[in-house]
Formats: sequence, C-alpha cells, structure tokens
Amino acid sequence: MVSLRICTLFLALVCVTTAVHGEVYQVKLQGTKCKIEKVTDSTLSQALQSIRNAENIRELDLSGNLLYQISAGELYPFRNLELLNLSSNVFYESVDLQSLSQLQTVDLNNNFMKEVIVPSTDRLIAMKRKEHGLFSGQPSETDRAECEKENGDRQKAMDAIQKQYSTKIDEETRKNQEKIQLAKRKTDLENDLPGIESSYNELKDVIVQTAVELQIHVPDTPDLLELMRSITQRYEDLYDEEQNKQSNAMRDYELHRQIEEQMLEDNERLKKVKSDNELQVQSANATLQALIIREQTLAKAAKEAQN
Ligand SMILES: *[C@@H]1O[C@H](CO)[C@@H](O)[C@H](O)[C@H]1NC(C)=O
Ligand SMILES: *[C@@H]1O[C@H](CO)[C@@H](O)[C@H](O)[C@H]1NC(C)=O
Repeated sequence: MVSLRICTLFLALVCVTTAVHGEVYQVKLQGTKCKIEKVTDSTLSQALQSIRNAENIRELDLSGNLLYQISAGELYPFRNLELLNLSSNVFYESVDLQSLSQLQTVDLNNNFMKEVIVPSTDRLIAMKRKEHGLFSGQPSETDRAECEKENGDRQKAMDAIQKQYSTKIDEETRKNQEKIQLAKRKTDLENDLPGIESSYNELKDVIVQTAVELQIHVPDTPDLLELMRSITQRYEDLYDEEQNKQSNAMRDYELHRQIEEQMLEDNERLKKVKSDNELQVQSANATLQALIIREQTLAKAAKEAQN
C-alpha cells in the first residue's frame, strides 16, 4: 500500500518495488534516468539486474542509501552511463568505475572513500577502437586521433575528480589518526589508572587516619574534600586555642611580675620602717643612757651634800 502511494507520486516513472527480507527498494525510471532508493548492499545486485536495457541508462542515481560497496561487475551493464550519483552513502575503501567508459560525472560526496578506480586513457582508447572497429570494420586515423583527444579530456576530468576526493581522503585519514591518538590516550589513561587509584587510596587512608586522630567523625563513604575541610578547620581551631592559652599565660606572667614588684617594694618599705625604728630606739636608748648618767651624777651630788 505504501509503495503504491509513492508510485502515484511519480506518475511519469516506472516503479518497480521488491521486498527482500522485509526490505523494500524502489527503482524509478524516467527516460534515460534511473534512481534507486531504499536499496541496501544485499539488494543492490537484484535492483540493478531488474533494470532492463541497462545500456540505455545515462544517469544512475544511487544517492542517499546506506551502500557500503558496489562492484565493477554490478555496474558493467550500464556501459553508456554518463552520470553516476553515489553521494550520501557509506562507500568505503574503493569504488571501481573501470567498466564505465562513457562516464563524465561521478558524485561521491558524503562517503568514506579512500580510492576511486577510473578507466585509464589507454584502456578507454582500446575500448573505443574496438567499438569503432565493430561498427565500421575499418578504423580511420582521424577517428583514432579524435578518440584519443576525447579520452584524454575524460581522463583529465577523472583526475580532477580523483584530486577532489584525495582532499576528502586526506581529511578522513587525519580524522582516523586523531581517532587512533584519542584511543591511545584512553589506553594510556586506563594503564595509569591503577597507579592513580593506589595513590588516591593512600591519600584517603592518610586523611581518614588524621581525621580519626583529630576526633572528627568519619562517615562510611567519606567525601574526602569535605573531610580535608574539617581537618583544616580543626587545625585552625587548635591553633586559636593554643594562641589563647599563650596569651593567657602571658597575662598571668605579667600579673605575677606585678605582684612580685609590689612585694619587693613592700619589703623595701618595711626595711626602711625597721631601720627608722632602730634609729629611734637607738636615739631613745641614747637619751635613756644620758638620763641614767645624769641621775647617777645627781644621786652622787646629793650624797656628797648630806655628808
Ligand atoms: C546527487 O544526488 C544528490 C542528492 O539527491 C543531489 O543533491 C546532487 O545534486 C546529485 N549530484 C549530481 C551531480 O547530480
Ligand atoms: C643601751 O645603751 C647601752 C650602753 O651604750 C647598751 O649597753 C644597751 O645594750 C643599750 N640598750 C638597747 C636596748 O639598745
């Protein structure tokens, strides 16, 4: 039903639809043009063989399929092909176009081609000669020169195509090399991984052990960065604590020094009081002694007066 509807869209076309393993390809013919859609590598041969009078086809459009390869043999019946559209497929490695002696244009855009094999000039000339000989039975020198020129031109066109594709191929090669380098780097990293892992585990052990020593709670699956932060915080706290202790000690020391100074001063003062007292005692004693001497003198005088 679906294919029927598509066919009505292309009223002018002859539409051949075949199902192989559930896959459907469509061959659309319009005069000397032929377009094949939804064809795969496994159905390509069948699709190409289904085209009667292949030698009348001038333009073959195989673009937009997922074709991986096409053989010289499959293209052989299309010997008068002038345009071959292979764009937007997944053609890979090489495509052999040697059997297509009339080919003027090949569209190979959007593929992964590494090589295009085209008919060589000599081979084309030989084929032309054969062709000519077949029709006339008597090849002329002018015809031969004409053939040679025509085929030389064709060869130039082919060379241009090949040159265009060699740029694409270079690009592909560069991409492939990048891919290989990336793969190598990945392998290197994978090889390094055990070393990195063991250093990580060592570091983890050290961190966890330090945390335990600092009495920081360690969860079952610790976030190492979080743990490191806790450890740093704990060290900062300890430093502050120590700083406080030290400044407290300094204050205590200063206080003690002041008390000591005070005591020394008091001592000095007491010493002075003591020596002052002693002086007073001495002076009092001296007075006392003088009084005693006067008393004695007076007593002696009184006694002498009585006598
Ligand atoms: C080939 O087919 C693509 C897609 O259909 C189209 O864009 C492109 O013009 C064709 N190339 C030539 C040379 O006709
Ligand atoms: C007072 O003076 C006398 C005589 O100089 C001395 O013998 C005595 O020890 C003194 N007494 C005191 C308390 O200093």
